Amino acid sequence: MERTLIILKPDAVHRGLIGRILARFEEKGLQLAALKMARIDRAVAERHYAPHKGKDFYEPLIRFITGGPAVFAVLEGKGAVAVARKMMGPTFGSAAEPGTIRGDFGVSNRFNLIHGSDSPEAAEAEIAIFFRPEELVDWQPAAMVWLYDFSTGDVV
Ligand code: RTP
Ligand code: MG
Repeated sequence: MERTLIILKPDAVHRGLIGRILARFEEKGLQLAALKMARIDRAVAERHYAPHKGKDFYEPLIRFITGGPAVFAVLEGKGAVAVARKMMGPTFGSAAEPGTIRGDFGVSNRFNLIHGSDSPEAAEAEIAIFFRPEELVDWQPAAMVWLYDFSTGDVV
C-alpha cells in the first residue's frame, strides 16, 4: 500500500488539535504505520523544506516549523498521498474549503496545521528524514477486509 508522511505542525499541537486531526485519517481508513512527537531542529527543517530554499516565505516557514513540538505520522492506504492531500485542503487556510482540515481549523496562510507529502517519491524521501526503517510498524487492521474489496485479486 502507498505511504505518505504527515506532520502536525506546531500550531496544531499548541491548539490541541492532534487527536481531532488524526481521528479524521483513522475514520477515513488510512492506517497508521508510525507515529511520534518531537521538536524539529533547524537542520532537519532545512532538509525537509529544501525545495523552498530561496523563496520569500522560506525563513518564516523554518521559524514556524521549528517553533514548537510537532507530530509525525506515516499513513498507509490506497492512493494515500493524494487522499491525505485532499483531506488537508489547499495550502492557504483562507482559501481551503470547509470540510478539509485546513478549511475547518485555520484561516492563516502560513500557520496551516499540517504537512502532507505531495508525491509518492517525496513521501519516501520525507519518511526517511523522520523515521528509521525499524520504526515503521508492519500490521493489518482487523477491519482490513472491510476497508477494501480484495476478492478480485486487486485492491478495490
Ligand atoms: P506543506 O509542504 O507544508 O504540506 O504545504 P503545501 O505543500 O500545501 O505548500 P508548499 O507550497 O509546499 O509550502 C510549504 C509551507 O510554506 C508555507 N507557505 N507560506 N506565500 C506564503 O507565505 C507561503 N506559501 C507557503 C505554508 O506553511 C506551507 O504549508
Ligand atoms: Mg509542500
